[in-house]
Amino acid sequence: MAIARVPQGVNPRRRETGAVSVSAWPASSFDNLALPDLLRRDGEKWATAQGGVLSSWVADMDFPTAPAVGEALRRRIGGDLGYPAWFDESDGGPLGEVFAARMLRRFGVEVDETCVRMFTDINQAMLATLQVATRPGDAVLLHTPACPPFVDVIEKIGRRPLTVPLQATETGWEFDPDRMERAVTSQGPGRCRVLFLVNPHNPTGRVFRRDELESLAELAIRRDLLVVSDEVHADLTYPGHRHIPFVSLSDEIAERTVTLTSGSKAFNLSGVRCAVAHVGPKAVREAIDERHGLMFGQVGVLGVEALKAAWTAGDEWLDGVTAVLDRNRRRVAEQLPEGLRYRMPEATFLAWLDCARLGLTDPMPYFRDEAKVLLFSGSAFGAVGKDFVRLNFATSGALLDEMLARMGAAARRRH
Ligand SMILES: Cc1ncc(COP(=O)(O)O)c(C=O)c1O
Repeated sequence: MAIARVPQGVNPRRRETGAVSVSAWPASSFDNLALPDLLRRDGEKWATAQGGVLSSWVADMDFPTAPAVGEALRRRIGGDLGYPAWFDESDGGPLGEVFAARMLRRFGVEVDETCVRMFTDINQAMLATLQVATRPGDAVLLHTPACPPFVDVIEKIGRRPLTVPLQATETGWEFDPDRMERAVTSQGPGRCRVLFLVNPHNPTGRVFRRDELESLAELAIRRDLLVVSDEVHADLTYPGHRHIPFVSLSDEIAERTVTLTSGSKAFNLSGVRCAVAHVGPKAVREAIDERHGLMFGQVGVLGVEALKAAWTAGDEWLDGVTAVLDRNRRRVAEQLPEGLRYRMPEATFLAWLDCARLGLTDPMPYFRDEAKVLLFSGSAFGAVGKDFVRLNFATSGALLDEMLARMGAAARRRH
């Protein structure tokens, strides 16, 4: 597969639009949220908020849909809702070209559009990849804390999660490459077949540096690992940090990397059920193609329209969202409840809050009952998360202030 790279930092189209984008979407566009409207929503995030609780757990943003997406959906509803024509995706399907153009525009990386395949979501794409590329009993290396479904999915299909924790250091969350190597070696030759990487990382918000990614790439090559790289949070990388797609590290790495992404996070489209996998290894791609429509289901036309519109016409809106989230991640630091520890994320809208100093067995129910703020329990992310909660700050400034004030009052009662 031909992989060419443009020089670092060259991203012509972003430069053109960059100057106007933030002012086109001022913070007020995203701060105008009414709690009664949120409480009427029937999605998982707000439907689970009962009895005056503010919901901050599921990784959905509270902001309204990008106008370009709404317009595309309305156009499609007025048109053809018959069977789609993408039963054969060997040319990359309707999102291949869109995905490839986006990778070039935003990250300066040229990828082969014919390697793109569609799935309803990232879990499904990961599951399909593991099913065709590994055998029962094989180990899958991944970092913890890990987003809850991943370990579950790996176990449910009879593979073994081989978890290595990220560690809090002076400079942030880091992983130890030697520990990863030892974990792989401990499995015996050929038993660990996959590195599942989440970058930017949920829940710590780390954007891994080039040297970190290169150490993982070397491990993958040395130990002959397939790399499944979940980059769904990449579009929400904050200024001062740079997302480097794993596939761009070298041609050799591109040949062993499956990149997963969707519009679920940056464009708040988790309900439309459409994700893509850029499947570098030919054998994996062919194995997926043999089974695809029959075994892994098919994405719907509305999901494809939504993602196409987001990725082709949503960048200005996204710049506005990113600016508000950048403000909000700082606001969490400024109003951090007493006793909690927080490292500002380098990407995405999740604050991984260390509550160990409060001395609670599980901080989530404490904040739910005492602060009426529903957070994601850190223990769902693995044993390393037991003292943590994950707060979602993709909401209005006013609602975030209210959540932090409630949590602050509850935390003070522990002292
Ligand atoms: C790292 C990561 N991957 C995947 C997902 C789910 O994405 P999708 O809805 O497209 O499957 C999430 C959702 O929070 C996530 O944080």
